[in-house]
Amino acid sequence: MCGIFGIVVDKEQSLGSILTDAGRRLSYRGYDSVGCATLRADGVIDLRKDVGKVDAVAARHRFDEMRGTRGIVQLRWATFGAPSPVNAQPHLDSDGDLVGAHNGNIVNHVELRAQFIAEGLSVRSTNDGESCVHAVERYVARGENIVDAIRRAYRDLEGDYAFVIGRVGEEKLYAIKKGSGLVAGMGEGFTCVSSDLPSILPLTRRIVRVNDGEIIALDANRIELRRVDDGSVIAREPEIVTASMDAAIKGGYPHFMLKEIHEQPRLAGELLHLLEAAPHATKMIARMKRARHLYLVGCGTSYHACMLGAIYLARLAGRAAIPILAPQFIAQYGGALSADDVGVFVSQSGETKDVLNAIQVAQARGMGVQGLVNVLGSSLMHASECYLPLGCGYEISVPATKTFMNQALTFLFLALKMGNHSTDVLARLPDLLEQTIATTEPQVALLESALVTADDLYCLGYGLTYPIALEGALKLKEVTYTHCEGMLSTEFKHGPLSAVGEGYPVLFVAGPEDTPLLVSGINETTCRGARSIALGEEDARLRANAHDLIVLPNSGALINPLLATIPLQLLAYRLSVARGYDPDFPRNLSKTLTVD
Ligand code: AGP
Repeated sequence: MCGIFGIVVDKEQSLGSILTDAGRRLSYRGYDSVGCATLRADGVIDLRKDVGKVDAVAARHRFDEMRGTRGIVQLRWATFGAPSPVNAQPHLDSDGDLVGAHNGNIVNHVELRAQFIAEGLSVRSTNDGESCVHAVERYVARGENIVDAIRRAYRDLEGDYAFVIGRVGEEKLYAIKKGSGLVAGMGEGFTCVSSDLPSILPLTRRIVRVNDGEIIALDANRIELRRVDDGSVIAREPEIVTASMDAAIKGGYPHFMLKEIHEQPRLAGELLHLLEAAPHATKMIARMKRARHLYLVGCGTSYHACMLGAIYLARLAGRAAIPILAPQFIAQYGGALSADDVGVFVSQSGETKDVLNAIQVAQARGMGVQGLVNVLGSSLMHASECYLPLGCGYEISVPATKTFMNQALTFLFLALKMGNHSTDVLARLPDLLEQTIATTEPQVALLESALVTADDLYCLGYGLTYPIALEGALKLKEVTYTHCEGMLSTEFKHGPLSAVGEGYPVLFVAGPEDTPLLVSGINETTCRGARSIALGEEDARLRANAHDLIVLPNSGALINPLLATIPLQLLAYRLSVARGYDPDFPRNLSKTLTVD
């Protein structure tokens, strides 16, 4: 997830260390390259950028020498265009008098690039951020003032983004917000703008919030906000932010896990834009279709996404796929792999040793290797012939939440496309996820006191909700340190039912198609004294038979598993905090498992 920061000061001065420091404070968002531009009083733009970490790039390119009246720093998390010096941001326009950088995704940048090239503009990179600069340049070249040029660019640039831009010969920086974060700060003799608060708070606590569809013009002593649609000026007073730096990084949430759960609706929406525009998706589908055997390989949460992916692929595209844990892939299929087979290797970190070991075996057998990966530049990305980014930005909390959602959503998208179905059904997903968080959070809170002392519970699902039950159980045990087993609901009677006694908690994840079967399972446990807790759409049978029903919005069988994930994440989170644990850093666990 990229980050931008811009500053305007009242007289030319050294800006390198301010920009480097702002870059460091944006770095928790995740990035692969760094760039700085300063606009000097003599009309020169000093632009330095490269692949690498903030301190290494700053030292290599001597950011400390950079002076100016205005400066921009950008940290790039590659989505469009490989991590490389030319794709690093900021970018210049054709004749080098505009410089800008963005955060987010310009999903129509391929079409825009072709237009810019046809119009004779100099396009230097394959990065979508460059499109922001040329989109402004084309209107400046037609005689528009810069604010109007930015307003027109806003209409041309599709996607969720924010960008900051400056022009030689002016004293200002300009920024615009459409879907990605943007806040501004006002200090003594300077103003600044950033993707988020942590890079601003060490400089000033006088903050101006920017909304979608607004342009902000910054000069050293003043901030002016305008509406994009009619150019009218907006009066907004700065507010004083008193939050600590830690709270600012957590976006006001007490833990990263809760913040990341709440990010899911927005990130799912952004991923859908990204997938619709990703040429790799089509390539990947073609390769998956041709495969003799198709394996979906991962560990932990990523494996659960593979399980759900296999159901989606069979159901929507008639394509059989084998979901398998990475080490077992080697043990079970290692001897049977051939060049006609394809594996989709799924890993948030892209560095899980178990997954990399499986890739090594696959490659030795000449098998096709494809990746779903969140950390771009990771080993999985490099090993994949073709990969799709999950677009979640950094997932800081050890329990995977938002990356599971986008892994599962990517599989659903691929399955719909492979089966030649419309993906329109996914357009409602961000709203449904939002609604699920809002409506299930209070319902989950009501269960907290009943479950906080339980040291043993089951989480059962069937069909499409079976992987969700496994994922819910993993989340619960990971952050509450209790035993929670996920299982196919019909298997419960084959053994574990004997553990059930008075008050024994059993969670049932009930998909709309399988409610009658789940109701049988619920009755098998309740008649033996269990406390059965159902998660499903409003249904008289679930309400009559379960002790508790966590109601999910109506969404249909395909989307329901994605929604059902949320109350289980929230339940795990709440029980962890209620037990006095830190859900972000559970004992004994690590975010990236680089050991066998
Ligand atoms: C999930 O909450 C876990 N932290 C863990 O199971 C994780 O999904 C697993 O280690 C795989 O990691 P990866 O996706 O980075 O490969």
